[in-house]
Amino acid sequence: MPGSNLVILTGAGISAESGIATFRDSDGVWAKYDLQDVATPQGFARDPAKVHEFYNMRRRQMSEVMPNAAHIALARLELEFSGDFLLVTQNIDDLHERAGSKNLIHMHGELRRALCQECDTSSLWHDDLSALSHCPVCSADGQLRPDVVWFGEMPYQMERIGEALSRCDLFVAIGTSGSVYPAAGFVEEARSAGACTVELNLKCAGWASRFSEQHEGPATEAVPAFVERILAGTG
Ligand code: NAD
Ligand code: APR
Repeated sequence: MPGSNLVILTGAGISAESGIATFRDSDGVWAKYDLQDVATPQGFARDPAKVHEFYNMRRRQMSEVMPNAAHIALARLELEFSGDFLLVTQNIDDLHERAGSKNLIHMHGELRRALCQECDTSSLWHDDLSALSHCPVCSADGQLRPDVVWFGEMPYQMERIGEALSRCDLFVAIGTSGSVYPAAGFVEEARSAGACTVELNLKCAGWASRFSEQHEGPATEAVPAFVERILAGTG
């Protein structure tokens, strides 16, 4: 069975059934907000209050939702899998860790953290952020921003992800449209390493041809079923 070195990439689709909207589906976040206003450094420089309000709203929403069966199945897989396991998420919510995942990289940052632009320290942050918030480390005023990666910024831990992809033999993408690089290029990196590549998505569209296998269905059904197959050695 392939899968002694496993890398899993998740996107907004895995949290959809917990009640968090995806970005590019018809009812998605980018249908309601202009990405340039709320997810770019330029948007933050233009109107910090608007950007804070967007992420404050998302942070409050995150505390009101729960991990679903897909998050829980991945935490179980990590616990019972015999080889190397790395979970990379593009999501900024904390549902993977609340489900019990440990070896987890938030490549696009985390809603539950604030980054100080003065001392460059990331701190846990559960309340609303505003231009009046001050850094708990250096006490600078008005320098905190959500610790999330905006368009045009460098995603986190790319070196560690690249290293895992270069020796992975099973790569699984779950609930992501594959529209945003560098995450959208991980499947090619895994293929170059000789990995079997699997997509789990509600509807496998556009980038599906890059995978050796696709399984359609809601994440809360497709992911637990896939985890059962992997752990039974028939994946
Ligand atoms: P991006 O703007 O999301 O930036 C990706 C960042 O990752 C860049 O800063 C780049 O330096 C960095 N990066 C890339 N490869 C890396 C690596 N191997 N290691 C470390 N860092 C790396 O990327 P993009 O490709 O410009 O945009 C992605 C998608 O987002 C596009 O396909 C586009 O559709 C969408 N987008 C849409 C809008 C819009 O207005 N609708 C605006 C920007 C981007
Ligand atoms: N189960 C499985 N997949 C689902 C479900 C579900 N219940 N609901 C939606 N999906 C799938 C959709 O078919 C789509 O392919 O989830 C995917 C969501 O895609 P996007 O909205 O583009 O989200 P994502 O791929 O995570 O976006 C990447 O874009 O704006 C940025 O930084 C943001 O991290 C995000 C990045």
